[in-house]
Amino acid sequence: MLIKKQTGIEIPSSQLTPQSLYLSRRTFMKAATAVTVAALLASCAPNEAETAVPAIVGTVEGEGETAVIPSPSTQTDELGNAINSFEEIANYNNYYEFTTEKEDVAELAAGYPLSPWQIEVSGMVKNPGVYDIDKIRQDFDQEERVYRLRCVETWAMVIPWMGFPLAKLLNKVEPTGKAAYVRFETIHDPDNMPGQKSAWFEWPYIEGLRLDEAMNDLTLLATGLYGQELLPQNGGPVRLVVPWKYGFKSIKSIVKIELTDKIPTSLWMASAPNEYGFYANVNPNVDHPRWSQGAERVIGKNGRQHTTLYNGYAEQVAHLYDGMDLAANF
Ligand code: MTE
Repeated sequence: MLIKKQTGIEIPSSQLTPQSLYLSRRTFMKAATAVTVAALLASCAPNEAETAVPAIVGTVEGEGETAVIPSPSTQTDELGNAINSFEEIANYNNYYEFTTEKEDVAELAAGYPLSPWQIEVSGMVKNPGVYDIDKIRQDFDQEERVYRLRCVETWAMVIPWMGFPLAKLLNKVEPTGKAAYVRFETIHDPDNMPGQKSAWFEWPYIEGLRLDEAMNDLTLLATGLYGQELLPQNGGPVRLVVPWKYGFKSIKSIVKIELTDKIPTSLWMASAPNEYGFYANVNPNVDHPRWSQGAERVIGKNGRQHTTLYNGYAEQVAHLYDGMDLAANF
């Protein structure tokens, strides 16, 4: 993610970085991990020549035991694209509350407490309330959804999430007739999230959806991936996943959901309104002001591939934007 002003937080260019990291499991026990990383890191410069490929190969060792990474039930998405490895998904992250360095997020976020955790649902709903994450996990059946994630920076992954449609929670709280948008807020905890001390952004991280987008069956509240609870670096204990939009819409570590009649101003809209809009639908025909969105690089694969409108989910979501000018509503 880049913003136009010179913040000193631009994505670093290609690096080769050996790295130690930590993996947390259900109890979020810190596990010592030895990982060799050979990574070409994302650079958002237009026309970047991408000749090397990120690869994360490693052994994962716990304290006296080997940490087991569970397998998802499938190895591909519905189009046959291979899922990314757990190591790739857990070690190449955008989470600006911790750092702007993708390969350092896992280590900095390790051990971040994900329990107890509550989400306040408020605003234009008939049944406002505070929802405990454990109860959410119990009350809503968790499903596996293998989705493509496309970052606005032009890298992509295929991730086997666990979670449930956001619509199920919204139906429970019953939006009133006036509600037209859903506003999401990440936890604000600058003492433990060093990135939130940065004055370049207006914290906390905010995102929003139109109510019909939020009610679409693809829109997921994710609580896990690879069959285990979400790690802190992936936005545990609960995050949004909106697979037809650029990854920055998929807000992590949510503590507030508010139904409203006003378009929420996201952190990115507030930071660089000419670069990051409210809709942020994946679209090869609408370029970012500073780089093309026509192609993307799948982490772990050679070369680049064409970007697909709505990230390949047009059948499910194109009707939401009938008659809209997609360039004006970027
Ligand atoms: N949510 C919060 N709170 N903070 C962030 O920095 N980064 C976004 C999104 N959600 C971000 C966030 C971006 S730019 C992307 S691409 C995805 O999270 C990355 O998710 P991942 O690290 O699990 O792959």
